Amino acid sequence: MPDLRQALVVRPAGPLAGTVAINGAKNSALKLMAASLLAPGIHTLHNVPAITDVGFMGQLLESMGCSVSTAGSTVTIDVPGDISPVAPYELVEQFRASIAVLGPLLGRCGTAQVALPGGDDFGPRPIDMHLRGLETLGAVFSTAHGYITGQADNLLGERVLLEFPSVGATENIMMAATLAKGVTTIENAAREPEIGDLAAYLGRMGATISGAGTATIVIEGVEQLSAVDHTVVPDRIEAATYLAAVAIAGGELTLAGARPDHMDMLIQKLGDMGMRISPDPDGLWAYVGSRLRSQDVSTLPYPGLATDYKPFLVAMLCLADGVGIVTENLFSGRFRYVDELKRMGADIRTEGHHAVVRGVPRLSGAPVKAHDIRAGAALVVAALAADGETVITESQHIDRGYEDIVGNLRAVGADIERVQIR
Ligand code: UD1
Repeated sequence: MPDLRQALVVRPAGPLAGTVAINGAKNSALKLMAASLLAPGIHTLHNVPAITDVGFMGQLLESMGCSVSTAGSTVTIDVPGDISPVAPYELVEQFRASIAVLGPLLGRCGTAQVALPGGDDFGPRPIDMHLRGLETLGAVFSTAHGYITGQADNLLGERVLLEFPSVGATENIMMAATLAKGVTTIENAAREPEIGDLAAYLGRMGATISGAGTATIVIEGVEQLSAVDHTVVPDRIEAATYLAAVAIAGGELTLAGARPDHMDMLIQKLGDMGMRISPDPDGLWAYVGSRLRSQDVSTLPYPGLATDYKPFLVAMLCLADGVGIVTENLFSGRFRYVDELKRMGADIRTEGHHAVVRGVPRLSGAPVKAHDIRAGAALVVAALAADGETVITESQHIDRGYEDIVGNLRAVGADIERVQIR
């Protein structure tokens, strides 16, 4: 369990230099682990990040009867012939991605009982599109005592038109559809690279899926799937975090293993701000030698600028030359960390889903709080160039999504340490 009394202490230390190895994507690894439920046998996932949420997903799978073991970045999941299709509240409340077991359980067991999800603390995060899509395939849901119970004796392929390209809904429907009878077509599907990774894993397992990465995904149901090996796609959000670190601290970083082709829009935006970024045989190379220029930022589903990048872009704009207007189009409550940045001297005004960020020459270190994974990491990168000491409490949120952010930043010259709070 995370130690709630830990904090991160950051002091300015000048430009960064060196290489950070990018881990497998949290938002893919968690869904792949859930997808393993679709096939009995031993699944081996490589390049899985050692983060708290992966630990929680492992516990969730174990509570259903799976055996989960970890060796370095390889996670082995032994899925038994009979699984218990129940996701208990104690685990589901820990992490939002737990809802990803709903589709696999319905596909595999024809029934599922899943507690309503918890997770990041930003705005209401409904699952109506997940349920409506699964209902279109024939599932019937009821809600009582904080649990959703789904029943699907015979899932039948259908056309599912999503109102919004929801990542989680696309994944749940895609996973359930692999074992449905007939052809399912998901229209207005999410196109994130993690969807492509899930489709690739399901394809290895024997599923017939085409169109992943486009707005129309077609899944031909099969009788059964089998356990396989798979390597998780690199984490573009983790890569964005280290790009923001070098943007703020200055210097030069290589992000080994990063996939520039998954980050096109971000790379374009950072280029507009004055960063030099180019593909490297190892992944991605970035250099910042002078103060960045402000740009406007608007979050959109992939291939637009990811909402998960936004806290880093806001942190960068805090110190850039000029004014940037940031518009959040996905999650209503995702500006809470702004108050923390203001405590560090940032000049930010929020209005509804907009933030106006006026760059200041320096931030100043202060005690601040991490409200969620990315917001917490944004405070870390902002602190790299703040005068004096920044103490970031509730750092357990950061550990939910980052494997060794402290070690990685220290290795490239940052002054950051983890401390116990009395
Ligand atoms: C995933 C990512 C999250 C990222 C988000 C958008 C994981 C674990 N999390 O979250 O980091 O920020 O994609 O890229 O992969 N919505 C509904 N009804 C639904 C489903 C979603 O109204 O049934 C709304 C949400 O409230 C939100 C928008 O749709 O406003 C996008 O949500 P979605 O794409 O589903 O995000 P997640 O899958 O939850």
